[in-house]
Amino acid sequence: MNVILPTDLSYCNSLRQRREKLAEKSDNPVILWSGKAASRNFPANQYPFRASSHFLYFAGLPLENAVIRLEAGKLELFYDNPPASASLWHGDMPHRAEIAEVIGADRHYPLEELAGKTTDAVTIPVQDVITYQQQCDLLQRSVSLTGKDLNLAQAIVSLRLCHDEMAVAELRKAAQVAVKAHQAGRNAVLSAKTEAEVRSVMEGVIIAHNMTCSYNSIVTTHGEVLHNEQYHHSLQPGDLLLADVGAETPLGYASDVTRTWAVSGQFSPTQKDIYDIVLAAHDNCIAKMQPGVEYRDIHLLAATTIAEGLVNLGIVQGNLEELVARDAHALFFPHGIGHLLGLDVHDMEDLGDMAGYESGRVRSDRFGLKYLRLDRTLRSGMLVTIEPGFYQVPGILNNPEFRNTYNDVINWERLAMFSDVRGIRIEDDVLITDSGTEVLTADLSY
Ligand code: GLY
Ligand code: MN
Ligand code: MN
Repeated sequence: MNVILPTDLSYCNSLRQRREKLAEKSDNPVILWSGKAASRNFPANQYPFRASSHFLYFAGLPLENAVIRLEAGKLELFYDNPPASASLWHGDMPHRAEIAEVIGADRHYPLEELAGKTTDAVTIPVQDVITYQQQCDLLQRSVSLTGKDLNLAQAIVSLRLCHDEMAVAELRKAAQVAVKAHQAGRNAVLSAKTEAEVRSVMEGVIIAHNMTCSYNSIVTTHGEVLHNEQYHHSLQPGDLLLADVGAETPLGYASDVTRTWAVSGQFSPTQKDIYDIVLAAHDNCIAKMQPGVEYRDIHLLAATTIAEGLVNLGIVQGNLEELVARDAHALFFPHGIGHLLGLDVHDMEDLGDMAGYESGRVRSDRFGLKYLRLDRTLRSGMLVTIEPGFYQVPGILNNPEFRNTYNDVINWERLAMFSDVRGIRIEDDVLITDSGTEVLTADLSY
């Protein structure tokens, strides 16, 4: 894949600072691979290339089949110049020396020279299997998140958790384009005939800004299917359409935004009742967030707000604290309140829970907590999503075990009156600041 070199070189200093900070935390040389594009059935037809986010964080550019070696804050780039024949298919491609200058590399070599420079090196396993095999072959060991590789992963997490100025500038751009996509989606839903039409309008905005989608878009009248990736349903006047669509900048930074709209432009009274509960959970959470606050408590605040709203509607009955302690809210809000956001839409989830969970904390297996992706004390510079929801998931609500466990607190006849609400979610991207929060997606209405 060809790469466009940025003309604004100010970010080179940010990259250098990141590398210097890593040098303070790592005694071993660090080698990071960018990866390769996967093929679609035959080699010349490739899926779009996405560089490893750890590589991107320190190298800054989405170079395919490139490797960086970091030692004592110095950067060495290993990358093969494109063969002359490549320009026929890909146009003129930048050469290694130009790239090295743009990203501030101290030295640069062809890829084959990496073999002599791997002694004592540590790395992070990449996702694509061909590159992963190269990592193991070159380092002459199996690569996994253990030993000194684990120490490296922890060091990188500590850097990537709180975003620097360059990252925040990119994240703002990703957020703004997602806002525009959702504004277009909200208008399109009034005249579109299918989910696919609304998706095309929203993704069209993202593409028109020379960005890509940061994950597979969810644009569905079946919002109760949490990661629904079907777009064939027609839109009926009484339907709700849930749109979870985010943008990714060319340098790899993501946004993640959800809105739920009435296809007719107007909620039914029952849809409005539930929408207001989800919005109250969203607003309550954001109002409480600031450095020092536990994200888990924010999740529990959303759970309590949703439980309270459902009690007020007569769908649920009981004491709020007990309902949340019994995970009764999770019948309708089964996922976590959100996650880290950065170069990955679930930032650093390639490392399992290492980024999401503070050292010494482990994921609960409780029904109401097991999908909580983030359990850390909030700090200035973190970007997180806040995404409460209400869903009527048949697999949960028709499960005899759940029905039995929660029979005393659910009024099933009352719940049946809300059958025109399959799924509602509201999701925004919230930057923790020194004084509280800044919602990067605040320009989008509810
Ligand atoms: N778009 C996926 C998520 O909200 O986590
Ligand atoms: Mn999300
Ligand atoms: Mn989302």
